[in-house]
Amino acid sequence: MAAASKVKVLWSVFMCLIFLVLYMNLAGPMWPDQLDMAISAPFKKQRHNSSDAVLGRSSRHVEVLTAVEKLSPAEPRHVTIHYNGTSSSYREQHDICTRPVTNLVFIKVHKTASASTAVVLLRFAYKHHMTMCYSPRGNKRFTLTFPSTEIYKSNCSRWQVLGDHFNFLVHHTVFNKTAMDRIMKPGTKYIGIMREPQSHFRSQFFYRRHHLRYRLRHHPNPLGAFLDNPEHQERKWSKNRTWSGERNNQAFIMGFPPHLLNTQDTGLMDDVIKQLGQSYTFVIINEYYEESLVMLRRKLCWDMSDILHSTKKIHEQHNPKKYIPLTDKQLENHKRINAVDYRMYDFFNRTFWESVEEEAGRGFWEEVTYFRYLVERVNKYCLASQDSEPLNVPISKWNNAFSVNEMFCKGLNRKPKDWAKKLFYQMTRRDKIWKKPSLNVASK
Ligand SMILES: *[C@@H]1O[C@H](CO)[C@@H](O)[C@H](O)[C@H]1NC(C)=O
Ligand SMILES: *[C@@H]1O[C@H](CO)[C@@H](O)[C@H](O)[C@H]1NC(C)=O
Ligand SMILES: *[C@@H]1O[C@H](CO)[C@@H](O)[C@H](O)[C@H]1NC(C)=O
Ligand SMILES: *[C@@H]1O[C@H](CO)[C@@H](O)[C@H](O)[C@H]1NC(C)=O
Ligand SMILES: *[C@@H]1O[C@H](CO)[C@@H](O)[C@H](O)[C@H]1NC(C)=O
Repeated sequence: MAAASKVKVLWSVFMCLIFLVLYMNLAGPMWPDQLDMAISAPFKKQRHNSSDAVLGRSSRHVEVLTAVEKLSPAEPRHVTIHYNGTSSSYREQHDICTRPVTNLVFIKVHKTASASTAVVLLRFAYKHHMTMCYSPRGNKRFTLTFPSTEIYKSNCSRWQVLGDHFNFLVHHTVFNKTAMDRIMKPGTKYIGIMREPQSHFRSQFFYRRHHLRYRLRHHPNPLGAFLDNPEHQERKWSKNRTWSGERNNQAFIMGFPPHLLNTQDTGLMDDVIKQLGQSYTFVIINEYYEESLVMLRRKLCWDMSDILHSTKKIHEQHNPKKYIPLTDKQLENHKRINAVDYRMYDFFNRTFWESVEEEAGRGFWEEVTYFRYLVERVNKYCLASQDSEPLNVPISKWNNAFSVNEMFCKGLNRKPKDWAKKLFYQMTRRDKIWKKPSLNVASK
C-alpha cells in the first residue's frame, strides 16, 4: 500500500517536471546565441495601435502585435544594435536603408518559385495598404495581360478610381517598362525572377502539359524526344509557330524584345540584356532562393519578418519523367533554341553574385544563416498544433521583434489568388474614402 502511494507521488513529481520543461521550451524559444541579438529599447516604445492583420491580431493575441507593424512606411528605420561589443545604428551599417520600398512591380515568370514569392510580396502589400493593378478575370491563371506585351490602366479593375495610385503589380504580365511606368506611381521598382533554363524547361514542360501537346505522353522520355528534334515537334503542334513556349520563354516575360528572340547575334543579345538589367532593381535567382530573399530585403529596406515564407511548394509537379538525364546532343539543342534565356540567366546570376560580394562585408552570410534558421523555425511552428502559444521572435539586426501566431501562419500559407482578393477587398473598402477628395478636385 505504502509503496504504491510512493510510486504515485514520484509519478506526479515526474509529470510536473516534464510539464515544466515543455512549458519553458514553448514559452522561451531558444535562439542561437552565437548570433548575438540584443533587444533595443526604442522599439519597445512603439505605438500600440497599427492597423494590420497580417501578423496576427486575433483578440487573444493583441498584445503580441509586432514592432514592425507599428512602423509606418514613412518613418525611417533607426534600429540601435549592439554587436561585437560596439553599438552602431542600422543605418550606419546599411547606409542605403532609410525607409521600406512600397512601390513595386514583380515580373512573375512561370515555374520559378514565383508563386511563393508572390505570397511574400502580397503579404507586404496588404500590410502597407498598397494599391494593386488587378483583374478578377485573371484569377484563374493569376494573369493580368500576359502574353500581351502591352498594358494600360484600363486593364486594372476600378482604374477610374484607383488609377492614379497603382503601386503594386504581381500578376503575370510581360515586362514593358514604358507601358508600366505609365500606370505605376513614379519611382516604382521592378523585381524579376529567373531559374536555370534546363531545370526551368524540365518543370514547365510537364506543368503546361506539353507532353500531351506534342503527343509524347506515352514516350519513355518526352523531354529527350522533344529535344532530339525540336523543330519537328513544334511543327507537329502548329504549322506556323515562331514562339512555342519552349523557346526563350523566361527572356520573353522578362522583357526581351519579342522580334529579337530568334537572333543568333550574341553581341546584340548581351547589349539588350545589359540594358534590360538596368531597369530591374533586383532579380531573384531561383537556385539561390533564400539568399535572394535576403538580398531583396536589403535592396528594398524591408524587415526580415516580411520575407518569411512557407516551405510548402505551391504548384509542385511530380512527374518522374522530369528527372530523366538528357544526352549532350539534346542539351545542345536546348541551348540552341534557348540561347537568350541562357545568356540572360548567366547575366543575372553573375550580377546577383556581384551584389553578394558587395554585401558580404555587411554581414550578408550571417544574415542568410539566421534567416534559414528562422524560416525553418517558423514553418515548424506553423505545422505544429495551431492553438499553442505564439512564437515570439526577438529583435535582431535584421528584424524588429515580432510574433508568429495562427493568423500569421494562415497568411504564410494563403494562396496567391486568395491574397490578391483580400488585398483588392482592402483597396475597394478604402477607395470610398478616396472618392471624395478626387470628386472635389473634379468639380472645382
Ligand atoms: C492610436 O492610439 C492613440 C492614443 O492611444 C489615438 O490617439 C490614435 O487615434 C490611435 N490611432 C489609431 C489609428 O487607432
Ligand atoms: C487591355 O486594355 C487594352 C486597351 O483598353 C485592351 O485593348 C486589351 O484587350 C486589354 N487587355 C486585356 C488582357 O484585357
Ligand atoms: C511597350 O509599351 C509601349 C507603350 O505602350 C509600346 O509603344 C510598345 O510597343 C510596347 N512594347 C512591346 C514590345 O510591345
Ligand atoms: C506565319 O506567321 C507569321 C507571323 O506570325 C506570318 O508573317 C506568316 O505569314 C505566317 N506564315 C504562314 C504560312 O501562315
Ligand atoms: C551562378 O554563378 C555562380 C558564381 O559565378 C556560379 O558558381 C554558379 O555555378 C552559377 N549558377 C548556375 C546555376 O549557373
